[in-house]
Amino acid sequence: MSTNDKFRLLEENNRKAELGGGEERIKKQHEAGRKTARERINDLVDPNTFVEVDKFVTHRTTDFDMDKQKFLGDGVVTGYGKIDGRLVYVFAQDFTVFGGSLSRANADKIVKIMDLAMRMGAPVIGLNDSGGARIQEGVESLGGYADIFYRNVMSSGVIPQISAILGPCAGGAVYSPAITDFIMMVKDTSYMFVTGPDVIKTVTHEEVTKEELGGAMTHNSKSGVAHLMATDDEQAMMMIRELMSFLPSNNMEDPPVKVCTDNPHREEDSLDSIVPDDPNKPYDMHDIITKVVDDANFFEIQPYYAKNIIIGFARLNGRPVGIVANQPANLAGVLDIDSSIKAARFVRFCDAFNIPLITFEDVPGFLPGTVQEFGGIIKHGAKLLYAFAEATVPKITVITRKAYGGAYDVMSSKHIGADINYAFPTAEIAVMGPEGAVNIIYKNKLSEEERKQAIDDYRSTFASPYKAAQLGYIDEIIYPRQTRYKLIQALEMTQTKSKTNPPKKHGNIPL
Ligand code: HXC
Repeated sequence: MSTNDKFRLLEENNRKAELGGGEERIKKQHEAGRKTARERINDLVDPNTFVEVDKFVTHRTTDFDMDKQKFLGDGVVTGYGKIDGRLVYVFAQDFTVFGGSLSRANADKIVKIMDLAMRMGAPVIGLNDSGGARIQEGVESLGGYADIFYRNVMSSGVIPQISAILGPCAGGAVYSPAITDFIMMVKDTSYMFVTGPDVIKTVTHEEVTKEELGGAMTHNSKSGVAHLMATDDEQAMMMIRELMSFLPSNNMEDPPVKVCTDNPHREEDSLDSIVPDDPNKPYDMHDIITKVVDDANFFEIQPYYAKNIIIGFARLNGRPVGIVANQPANLAGVLDIDSSIKAARFVRFCDAFNIPLITFEDVPGFLPGTVQEFGGIIKHGAKLLYAFAEATVPKITVITRKAYGGAYDVMSSKHIGADINYAFPTAEIAVMGPEGAVNIIYKNKLSEEERKQAIDDYRSTFASPYKAAQLGYIDEIIYPRQTRYKLIQALEMTQTKSKTNPPKKHGNIPL
């Protein structure tokens, strides 16, 4: 073979690999409103930074005549590139080749870049579009998945792992993402399920559509499995790029600081009147968050799930922070099972990756009722308490209104290690609300008139921040309009925080 022929062969092989399962299947993929693996990677990484590895790997199966069906790359594109100039590792499953299913060879490719990512301390982004374990390969492909799961677990808390679900994903193609830090789904074109509608019909006789069972809205609003939702593949990639901008490359680094063009001293007069006079009147906590953070830019996580708590990333004076905030506009901001779990996982993520935590608190307590008690609110609420208590990153809390009962303790109180605790003058910090307290203390011993008086007395004595401030549980009662600068000052002050928990193999969070 001449040198020219050798070059031609390479060119032809590259072209073949880049065609995946062929033009017909690519056309089908596009018709379904989805992009191909390579197109998605192009959208995700900075232009001309992607370096592919293992482009010519093929599977080694002979059963089911598989030796007659080989595709270069074997249904997954793997490699590394850059996002905002920072190294990331990427794998993108190619649905045009055996439905993106995972073969042994295909798993080895993913494992290789996961190992590289751990060695270099850089994030892994998985673009999932796969029918799960390749059925023709049996236990070999199950082994491949377990190798990936193991690395997902070992990488957890060391490098950020982000998953996008971009097609119909089943089996291992959902369990690996489930172990990663964030799951992005795309409306109308992505699905996640352990078993699909057909299997469910056979086993439980339930009839359910693919969309209802595992569509993007189901997992973003009902199950809480997914964290983000995009309208198409391209937007999904843009959102992942933005998410990455808040995260360090690994747990030994601090998150990337951006040049801040928003005045750190900016005062927001409207914040002084944002909390209504009537303690039972709701307001939208998003308004406080967006008025305080840099350029009103708040990247919300799980915005459709457990809306009574808000979580997400923002910047203060250019420095990324994780925000946890009760939402009085939804269920009065009460803590329940779903909101506790949602916030606890986020707190642990921020703590693992050195992202300071800012807590905005307006919480009337834990949600009472048999549904919550039978569902295990005791252990689920404890998750949030545990997560805040074990977090060693800077923790700064602002009580805007209610901080009642156990929820006061849980929401990053001084007692569980918060560094700075602020309160608005409108804060009410007590064991419970005035009506409840008077009912319990006096039972039925008071006339209506006396009851009203007792409620007023309780409100003025206890439903304020002054008792807590006298005890040093609140460091400062602040003017709400100055919240932005107060938080920036606290963040600067805590920048050199060095705190470690007692050495242990690991704690035992109430799962
Ligand atoms: C081999 C597969 C495959 C698989 C799909 N294909 N899944 N090949 N192994 N797991 C192939 C199909 O045969 C088809 O090939 C092509 O991919 C496209 O699939 P379609 O079914 O035509 O597409 P669609 O209608 O969109 O349905 C997609 C799907 C469905 C929902 C993913 O294919 C499906 O249900 N697949 C099986 C899912 C599954 O049970 N996987 C095993 C999970 S167990 P042709 O040549 O016809 O185009 C697992 C274990 C891990 O993963 C452990 C977890 C803890």
